[in-house]
Amino acid sequence: MTTAPQPHIAVLGAGHTGPILAKVLTEAGYAVSIAASGDPDRIALIMSFLAPDAKPRWAADAVAESDIVILALPLHRFGALDPAWFTGKTVIDTMNYWPPVDGVQDLFEDPDRGSSEIVRDRLPGATVVKSFNHIGYHELDDARRPAGAPDRRALGVAGDDPEAVELIATVLDRVGYDPITLMPLTAGRALQPGGPVFGADLTQDRFAEEIAS
Ligand SMILES: NC(=O)c1ccc[n+]([C@@H]2O[C@H](COP(=O)([O-])OP(=O)(O)OC[C@H]3O[C@@H](n4cnc5c(N)ncnc54)[C@H](OP(=O)(O)O)[C@@H]3O)[C@@H](O)[C@H]2O)c1
Repeated sequence: MTTAPQPHIAVLGAGHTGPILAKVLTEAGYAVSIAASGDPDRIALIMSFLAPDAKPRWAADAVAESDIVILALPLHRFGALDPAWFTGKTVIDTMNYWPPVDGVQDLFEDPDRGSSEIVRDRLPGATVVKSFNHIGYHELDDARRPAGAPDRRALGVAGDDPEAVELIATVLDRVGYDPITLMPLTAGRALQPGGPVFGADLTQDRFAEEIAS
């Protein structure tokens, strides 16, 4: 039996969240590149401890060699990214708008759009989904469970494109979480800070109930 090739994943951001994402993704069998804002040599040592199988790269190279790009940088740094890099990529937006950290960002003060919708609108060539934003980086590793475990935690994935949502649902499952798919991307507002499942440790049934309530 042949197995389908796995997508290559780039993680942009090597602070608190990015390296843990890189760790759990490489342990799930994905090839992962990780980048901060500058020279990959600056993150090579820390990555050799935190996610030794991930490749430190310049951000542009990490994106170019990947099918899926995870945005794990502070939202106030997002505007510095070149939208052209993301054409044809599936982008997972993990970023939360948090004014105490990001400062007030006029772009993200829009009451009519969730933050991932604003990210989507800034990356017209990409297919954007929202996921991994509503679990703390310190939990991402330890909360993983094999499929079927009674206490397996659910994580949401929201997007407009059914294939992209299913692709990232598969990633969540392989990493160790029960995926809850939400469509369209506007439904991902439930995953934002202040939403019913933000930061919540819920199994699949309870997660779905909270979303529906
Ligand atoms: N903290 C959590 O538990 C958590 C959970 C889920 C989601 N999130 C979201 O994840 C994002 C990152 O949070 P964090 O706590 O990990 O932040 P952090 O510790 O401050 O790390 C920020 C990282 O982003 C990098 N970065 C900045 N500009 C970049 C660019 N243009 N290209 C590539 N990398 C760039 C920084 O690199 P330099 O050092 O080179 O500037 C740094 O490695 C936030 O949007 C947050 O809302 C956080």
